[in-house]
Amino acid sequence: MSRTDTYIDENLPRFREELFDFLRIPSVSANADRRPDMQRAADWLAHEMRGAGLEVSVHATAGHPVVLGEWRGAGAGAPTVLIYGHYDVQPAEPLELWTSPPFEPTVRDGRIYARGSVDDKGQLYMHVKALEALARSEGKLPVNVVLVAEGEEEVGSDNLVPFLEQMKNRLACDYVVVSDSGMVAPGIPTIGASLRGLAYFQIDVDGPGKDLHSGSYGGAVLNPATVLCRIIASFHDADWHATIAGFYDQVRPAEEARDQIAQVPFDEEKLREETGAQALVGEKGYATLERLWVRPTVEVNGLLSGYTGEGSKTVLPAHAMAKVSCRLVPDQDPQKIADLFEAHVRRVSPKEGVTVKVTRMHTGLAWRAQLGGPLYEAAARALEAAFGRPPVYAGEGGSIPIVSDFERVLGAPVLLMGFGLPGENAHAPDEWLDIDTWQRGLHASARLLQELAPG
Ligand code: BES
Ligand code: MN
Ligand code: MN
Repeated sequence: MSRTDTYIDENLPRFREELFDFLRIPSVSANADRRPDMQRAADWLAHEMRGAGLEVSVHATAGHPVVLGEWRGAGAGAPTVLIYGHYDVQPAEPLELWTSPPFEPTVRDGRIYARGSVDDKGQLYMHVKALEALARSEGKLPVNVVLVAEGEEEVGSDNLVPFLEQMKNRLACDYVVVSDSGMVAPGIPTIGASLRGLAYFQIDVDGPGKDLHSGSYGGAVLNPATVLCRIIASFHDADWHATIAGFYDQVRPAEEARDQIAQVPFDEEKLREETGAQALVGEKGYATLERLWVRPTVEVNGLLSGYTGEGSKTVLPAHAMAKVSCRLVPDQDPQKIADLFEAHVRRVSPKEGVTVKVTRMHTGLAWRAQLGGPLYEAAARALEAAFGRPPVYAGEGGSIPIVSDFERVLGAPVLLMGFGLPGENAHAPDEWLDIDTWQRGLHASARLLQELAPG
């Protein structure tokens, strides 16, 4: 055990208390009234990063601040590692489904329950504490470090992309490390081999000028809710293939990924249980992991129309709205998919009686890792040291759009070294972080930087 490892184990209780303070700040990027909390989270983090020995600056953006930490003391002979994470969290609603309040971190069964515990404050703070451990136990860091913590990941990273472009020289690095993904199972360290992309839309259907009595007027005019349901129903055929013309044109054959998928230990029944669904059903002709990792989807994320209160109310709604996202895979182009999506909605919409509007929301590119090379070799050694077994390489169904921007703008390879666990409830009530996995992640983070040091 190295001095750094000892430092981590001895200071773990304090690290945990500090993480609790971080988790108590309700840094929900989507809610305008949380703006002061976003600033508070950024300032808190900046203070902690200074404590870990970094030179820290907080950069205001058109949205929420970016916290930048730098340490250049390893000199020109050592590589520069950029570590990225996000301090913003998803809204905690519905609050009544939480066992303990979302912003009062609580330990149960070796887990920290709180919004943001795993996505992504816990994983981000893990790196901050690994840097502190290295700095305090060795007096210096083994490599140059740039730490970028953003506050807009959960709302599309709109302001981080221009920040990256503007700060491109200052952020120049050899490697990028991101801990914002998961492991395939407890105890099995996992390197992310791919991420899906995203194209997100809102569809608004407007019919009559106001809500109408559904008896007096129903049958005389089109019902926006029914029209919207028809539009949504047109997105898939009976086998759950997407029917949007051209949707699959750029998708690579799933066979390409089959060998890699076969190497990942996967328990179909466990996944079913985790979801609480009665069966795992989706696009015909593709295995579950193929559907999650290498096939694109069209999903309804939200629906709103008419009367949804208690009892019955006979009303013909004036308006219906849906939020729809497409998860994308290499080499789909989000802008092109957005064009196809809009064209599809236009084609299936009634020609008169309602207006159908499609609003484009955020987009993100899918990403596939170029496995191999010094970064991935160092990560494999670091994870093996921390977990006692080598990592597996697994796809991810989720999206981190900034990952492909890092590669494009900085020209450096990205490593996804995530420590979430199946069933962690990210974005849902009762989100949790496994404490043992977090501790191993701390060791892995510190060890990764040591493994990347020259000579
Ligand atoms: N950490 C997730 C992304 C993720 C989830 C990666 C699961 C790997 C596995 C991230 O915070 C997230 O939720 N991203 C959004 C992106 C969107 C808001 C642009 C997502 O995937 O929905
Ligand atoms: Mn995240
Ligand atoms: Mn998230």
